[in-house]
Formats: sequence, C-alpha cells, structure tokens
Amino acid sequence: MDIICVNDYEEMSEKAASIVVEHIKQLSKPTLGLATGSTPEGLYKSLIQKYQQNQISFKDVTTFNLDEYTGLSKDDPNSYHYYMSHRFFDHIDINPSHIHIPNGKASDFGQECIKYDEYIRKNKIDIQILGIGENGHIGFNEPGTPFASRTHVVELAESTIQANSRYFKNIEEVPTKAITMGIETIMESNMILLLVSGEKKAEAMERLLNDNVSEDFPASILQRHGNVKVIADKKALAKVKDLTRVLC
Ligand code: F6R
Repeated sequence: MDIICVNDYEEMSEKAASIVVEHIKQLSKPTLGLATGSTPEGLYKSLIQKYQQNQISFKDVTTFNLDEYTGLSKDDPNSYHYYMSHRFFDHIDINPSHIHIPNGKASDFGQECIKYDEYIRKNKIDIQILGIGENGHIGFNEPGTPFASRTHVVELAESTIQANSRYFKNIEEVPTKAITMGIETIMESNMILLLVSGEKKAEAMERLLNDNVSEDFPASILQRHGNVKVIADKKALAKVKDLTRVLC
C-alpha cells in the first residue's frame, strides 16, 4: 500500500485526477470503478476541467459505481445515479451506454446483484476509486461483511445512516438498504485509489495502517491488495504516529 500525503482536499483531488488521467491515457478501453459521497467531488471537478481543457477524453471509458440506495429512482436527487449525472457524467463525453450503476428500483434485487457482478467480472476494473467510512466501510460494506462477499444488498449501519443524513431533509428519509459491490468484487480491481480527507477520517486512517486485517474493519483488507495508492491529507493523517510508510 503506497500512502501519499498531501496538504489538503484540493491537493488530494488534483493528485487523484492526475493519476486517473495518466492511466486512462495508457489504456485502450479503460474501466473505472467510481464512488460517491463528499470525498470524490473534487476529483470529478478536476477531471471535468481536464476534459474541458482537451487533456482527456472519456469516450472509450466504461464505469461501474460502487453502490446505490434501494428504493430511490434515477432522478431522485438523493440517488447516486443523480449524483453521478450532475457531478460528472453530464459534463464529459462518456458514452451513456458505458455507465453502470446498480438499479435501486430493480424488481428483483438478487438478480440485479448477480447481473451487476457478472458485468464487472467481464470488464475488469482498472482503477477503483474508494472513499472510506468513519467505521472503515468501503462501498457500503459495513463492519462484519465477509471478505468473500460479491455484489449484494446491505442493511446500512446506524452510523452510516447518520453520516449520510446530511444530504437528506431529515434522517427518516435516508434509505436503510443499499446495493453494493462486495469486498471480493472490489479487491479484483487492478488498482485501488483510496482518497481520505479531513479530521473525521483520522481515526479510520490510523486503523487502516495499524489494525490487523479483520472483517470488523472492512478497509483493512486493502493491506492484502498488491496495488493500492492511498492519497490522504494532513488532517486525515493527524492520528498516525509513525509516518515512515508515508510519502510526504
Ligand atoms: C460511496 C461509498 C462510501 C463512501 C464513504 C465515505 O459510493 O461507497 O463508501 O466512500 O461513505 O463517504 P464521504 O466521502 O461522504 O465521507
């Protein structure tokens, strides 16, 4: 796991965008795994800027999002479909048929998960963008999720509902379930780019580096992946005492 230290959120986003662009340019048909939430917003802004400056095209890029709430339609402003369209896809030249996000309104969630996971197996993800939950979740894989999990429906942890309620009018509106790529699905990506910013993530960052690998802290599995880059800002690294592994 390479840990790259940056000053702040802006630098983290810029650095991540440069890594993504560099990889897209090297691959003929790149496949990106994408995350939502506040962490990657700056990355998407920077990628849009690079597209507008003709530095990069997304026309041959295929994307798979990590997760989607169940029960929310694509045009619900709180759905991850809506988030991705408004914050990224509507502003770049990606082919809409190359975009994949789990269907939160599927009539059969079991089938939706199987179909989604098969698509990912067939189109191996080159770079998976990840954020991390304060409880160590990746995607919506909450503590206790088996490392062998594939795409599945999850019951969201109370702390995740609480954290995500900032996007909703009130906490009662936050869906309690979501479809998420499984941990094994995520781990099959060729490269993982984990972005960590802010003091709220400082404890998770410290645990990521120092905890034993355990299903109690899902992100700890990343220690077993051969190609992970973590870009963390100074606030996120504030609780890490031993910085010898960190590239500053
Ligand atoms: C989002 C996702 C989540 C978030 C995590 C951090 O698609 O899968 O794991 O990455 O909850 O969220 P933020 O970035 O809002 O702190």
